[in-house]
Amino acid sequence: MATTSFLSAFVVLLHLVITTHGLGINYGTLADNLPPPATVANFLKTRTTLDRVKIYDVNPQILQAFANTGIPVTVTAPNGDIAALKQIDSARQWVVTHIKPYHKQTKIQYILVGSEVLHWGDATMIRGLNSAIRTLHAALLAEGITDIKVTTAHSLAIMRSSIPPSAGRFRPGFAKHVLGPMLQFLKETRTPFMVNPYPYFSYNGKNVNFLLFRPNRGLYDKYTKLSYTNQFDALLDAVYSAMKDLGYGDVDIAIGETGWPSICDGWDACSVANAQSFNGQLVKHLAMGKGTPLMPNRTFETYIFALFNENQKPGPIAERNWGLFRPDFTPVYDCGIMRNGQKGAPLAPTNPAPAVGDKKWCVPKAAATDAALQENINYVCSQGVDCKPIQPGGVCYAANNVKALATYAMNAYYQANGRHDFNCDFSNTGVITTTNPSHDQCKI
Ligand SMILES: *[C@@H]1O[C@H](CO)[C@@H](O)[C@H](O)[C@H]1NC(C)=O
Repeated sequence: MATTSFLSAFVVLLHLVITTHGLGINYGTLADNLPPPATVANFLKTRTTLDRVKIYDVNPQILQAFANTGIPVTVTAPNGDIAALKQIDSARQWVVTHIKPYHKQTKIQYILVGSEVLHWGDATMIRGLNSAIRTLHAALLAEGITDIKVTTAHSLAIMRSSIPPSAGRFRPGFAKHVLGPMLQFLKETRTPFMVNPYPYFSYNGKNVNFLLFRPNRGLYDKYTKLSYTNQFDALLDAVYSAMKDLGYGDVDIAIGETGWPSICDGWDACSVANAQSFNGQLVKHLAMGKGTPLMPNRTFETYIFALFNENQKPGPIAERNWGLFRPDFTPVYDCGIMRNGQKGAPLAPTNPAPAVGDKKWCVPKAAATDAALQENINYVCSQGVDCKPIQPGGVCYAANNVKALATYAMNAYYQANGRHDFNCDFSNTGVITTTNPSHDQCKI
């Protein structure tokens, strides 16, 4: 009896710890077989301990579905919107269109301006990023919204060096022109600096125990005399060191994405066992709240990548197998995020895939400028869509013909996202047509 109540008190406590630290999930939707957003919201709330979600756009159906659920949603302004967000009038319009209809019934936590812009964006986009972030922040205030923070997520391509962790530094150009000013803004607005650390990408066959939080020899930092037992902490401390070097060691760090795929093409990094080990240990590691060697006791709001296996992500098999769940909500593996004793089983019938018969394509509007179309291309190609066909040598490549390239890219994005009208909006530069834009070898 005493043991039982002790145990249940412990379970309650553990659950509290997990929820207060904020463990979220990336809800990507590059699939044609996913359940309706309202079913997803209900599943997360009733069956899992995941307490927040992040999406890669401002999908109105998803924002609607999370209304009054108590689950905060982080949304993303597509890279293609950065140019518009630099101007206060268009930033205000953006807020009126994409945020105001859902705020506050839906708790929108952060707006991320772009996706890994320093990794994927062109020079104009990178130069405009801070201005877009500050202007969007001002636009929210001007619209009377004071409870949504603005930040952006970075891939670790922003790092010049990460080993040993105390010597972590940003790439000097980024540090001076982009990340320093950005950290100043984040400090002023008490908003976290968000990074996407993936130990998986460091896999070399020999370091698997270090990457998967298993017993291992560790990594010794001779400058701090601290030992690291896992790559996740080492990467975070490298980021922290780089921030501290610029004078911003006190800005919070959030993890926008991390995870491990369960299947890939013959590479021994990927297996259900490895994915389960990484995500399962990560969940425990975060729940302990012990921080890292350089950040003792600090906690990190974290979003695992990803909620679902996404069958329409192009590229290698691994891309379609990052999910914790299949589209029918059965878990790919158990990583300790189901509510007490529950197994992830089908919750409700899933919606059928849209019919393929009625052919529609998304193409640029006649009036769209090349600059806007180029931004659409950059955005789409940063979202996991396969852009090889429009690179030199590809079947849809057309030198200096931005419109032709954008036709391929915008349509690929539209098709991959389930062919919703709003996936062809592209800041009012796209239009849906029933005329097949394919030509020659270029099948669109
Ligand atoms: C971290 O928390 C532990 C336990 O509460 C405490 O003993 C320790 O002093 C803390 N360390 C720091 C650096 O705050």
